[in-house]
Formats: sequence, structure tokens, C-alpha cells
Amino acid sequence: MAQAQNENLGFSDSAGNRPKEATWRGRGTHAASADTNHDEASRMDFVMTLFRHIGRNVAPGHQTVFDKKVEPDFVKKAGRKPKDRHEVRKAMLENPYFQYWSHLRLYSQEASYYERSQIVDRQLDALIDKAKKVPAGRKGKNDKGSLTLNPALVIPPYQAHFDMHWMPGSYFTEFTKDDVAGGAMYDTGGLYITSSGHLGAYNDGAGYAIARYIQSKFPTFKPKRILDEGCTTGSNTVPLKDAWPQAEVHAIDIGAPVLRTAHARSEALGLAVHYSQQDAEHTNFKTGSFDLISSSMFLHETARKAVHNIVKECYRLLSPGGIMVHVEQPPFSWAKSPFDQMTRDWDTHNNNEPFWGAMHDMDLEKVALEAGFKKENITLEMVPLVTPTESDKYALGKGAWFVFVARK
Ligand SMILES: C[S@@+](CC[C@H](N)C(=O)[O-])C[C@H]1O[C@@H](n2cnc3c(N)ncnc32)[C@H](O)[C@@H]1O
Repeated sequence: MAQAQNENLGFSDSAGNRPKEATWRGRGTHAASADTNHDEASRMDFVMTLFRHIGRNVAPGHQTVFDKKVEPDFVKKAGRKPKDRHEVRKAMLENPYFQYWSHLRLYSQEASYYERSQIVDRQLDALIDKAKKVPAGRKGKNDKGSLTLNPALVIPPYQAHFDMHWMPGSYFTEFTKDDVAGGAMYDTGGLYITSSGHLGAYNDGAGYAIARYIQSKFPTFKPKRILDEGCTTGSNTVPLKDAWPQAEVHAIDIGAPVLRTAHARSEALGLAVHYSQQDAEHTNFKTGSFDLISSSMFLHETARKAVHNIVKECYRLLSPGGIMVHVEQPPFSWAKSPFDQMTRDWDTHNNNEPFWGAMHDMDLEKVALEAGFKKENITLEMVPLVTPTESDKYALGKGAWFVFVARK
């Protein structure tokens, strides 16, 4: 079993040995990546191991605590079981094991940002320079990507007023001229650590899962123009260009620092993407511009009203027969119990992700209907998780994504 997992994670150390599990040192880098020295890499490996330990060895204990202590106490007092995640959360809040687990999760998150900011800050000038020069790495292809920033863009209030999941400065803050700090922070292993490497060394598993899903569900569909929304550093945009090399691929985000990194990263990886700084609620693209619109882990970081506007804008931007696919976690109503819902809602209350809970409560079919999509063309389903490896970018991993899909 361990070996099967190793093969699926697909990383090897400098001596060519495959570690038992994904390590931070094994993450994918490119010509615009931050450099790390031995001590930084060791600390990052510790942080990654800590995340894994908390998820694997500490987290399961609070189900036991709930089953054996918190729920029976609740039943004694209320004469019934907790009816929803909010009641479960309130009941768990006073429990020391729950507090301990929560504290560890927060501590590990802070440690991850602290260590990564040390790495990025000490070489920020060099990273800015690398991003400007757009490192060589293109595989002799003729098409070239681009970067269009809009300093006048108004950052939407649901992003502007706090640091999303405690990331210092969030995605959009510019601490200095031509800043890439937000992008470099993200690219230095955030999602790679929290996913324990299960999204692949380049964190591109969601993009390959989208391509795999579209290719198997709509085999004759060949998109010519693709848009990825809330692209951050383009990890899940690049796989779309890889899957459909003839397509013109665009990607938008509100954050200039992440887009600078995205552009440099895509060029370094040899895949042309046109990045622009735009709000997905109202873009400057012409009506009917795209055959495929995607997003990965994006909608849950926007406000409820924004989700409506973004889906309406997708409808406007799609050509007839065009498809939108948003990758997320499933709605709370699909969870097996109020306890599971509560566990999944932890980020709303503790990880500075205020829209997580609201978004996962939304009736997405209704949102799509209101935007103009027909009921028979809307799909909400689970699709296999992809863990790209060195030899197979579409290798199936353990788990599944929720997709919110609609065809115009
Ligand atoms: C969780 S990240 C998405 C991760 C990314 N898709 C990936 O696969 O790595 C959310 C991104 O959405 C961007 N964002 C938030 N609101 C936006 C909006 N209204 N329009 C465009 N981008 C937005 C943020 O700046 C951030 O980069």
C-alpha cells in the first residue's frame, strides 16, 4: 500500500530515491521559483510533516471525542442530537481536544506562512527580476503568453478587507514596485503542503482533473478559447494549455503579484497563457469569447453575491455550446453528518475564510438557472482526483473533487 502511494506521488530526491511520501523538497520548481537553502528546506519539510501528522493522527481523535463525550452530553441536555453543523460546533468549542486540534491547525498555518515569508523576503528583489526577465524554458513553441495588469482595478471588498486564510497581504497587496511576494509565497508550497502533495508536485492536479473530466464527458468537444478564473499563479491554468495546445488560453485574477508570478511560471514551463488583471464578476472580454471557462478552488473565496455575478458573467462569455466547470468541495448538504459538516466548516470560523461556509450552503443549480443556463445542461457531481506524476499527468489519486458544470 505504501509503495502504491509512493508511486502515485511520483517524486524522487536528488539521489533518485523515492521518498515514502511527498516532501516539500520534492515539490516542482521552475526557473522563476524562489531558491531555498538547506535550513529553509528542512524547516519547510518539518511544516509539511506537521500538517500531515495533524490531519492523520490528531484529527481523527475529535470524532471519538464527539461520539463518546460531546454528543452524549448534548443529548442529555437537549433531549436530542445536534441538528446541524452550527450546533455541533458550539458543543465542541468547549472541548479541550477540539481546542488542541484547532490550535495545532492554526499554529501550523502560521508556521507555514512565517517560514515561506522568510524565504521570499530575503530574495524578493531577485524574484522580481526573474519574473521581469521571464526565464527561458520554452520548448521551442512559437506562441507566447502575455501579462496585462490594470493598476486601476478596484479590489472587491470580499478580498480587500482581510488576509485570506491568514496569508500576509493576501493575493493582491503590493508591498513594493513590481511586487511578486504574494505569488512567490503561494508558489513556495502553500497548497502543496495542505494537500500533502496529492495534487502533484506542481499543484496542477485540479487542472488535469478538469481536462480529464471534459475529455471523457464531452469527447468531441475541442475548445479553441479557454478562460481560467481566479487563476492565482496559474498552476491549474497551465494543464489546460497542455491538454489543448491549439487553444488560446486566458486567465484572470484580481492580484497583480500572483499574476506576475503566474506569467513567469507559465513561460518557464513552456506553456503560453495570456494573463490579465480582471474581476471575474465583470470582465472586458467580448460576449461569447470562450468555449471553456474553468476555475479551481475559486468560488469559495468570493462572496455570495459575487458567485451569482461570476456565473452570470460566465454565461455571457460562453459561446453557444460552451462549457463552464468550477472545481470545489461538495456542498454541505452532501456531507454524511452534521459532524462532518462542522469539520469541513472549520476554515470559516478559524482560517479567515469567511465565505467558505456560505458558498457551500448555496444552491448552485439555482445560481446557474438564474444566470440563464437550462436545467438539463447543469451538472453537479463528484469527479476523480488526479495526482499528476512524472510519467502520467492524468494519474488518478485518492479522493474526488466536486464540479459545478453548465453548458450554454
Ligand atoms: C484559492 S485561490 C485560487 C487557486 C487557483 N485557482 C489554483 O488553482 O491554484 C483564489 C484566487 O481568486 C482570486 N480572486 C478572488 N476574487 C476574484 C475575482 N472577483 N475575480 C478574479 N479573481 C479573484 C484571488 O486573488 C485568488 O488568487
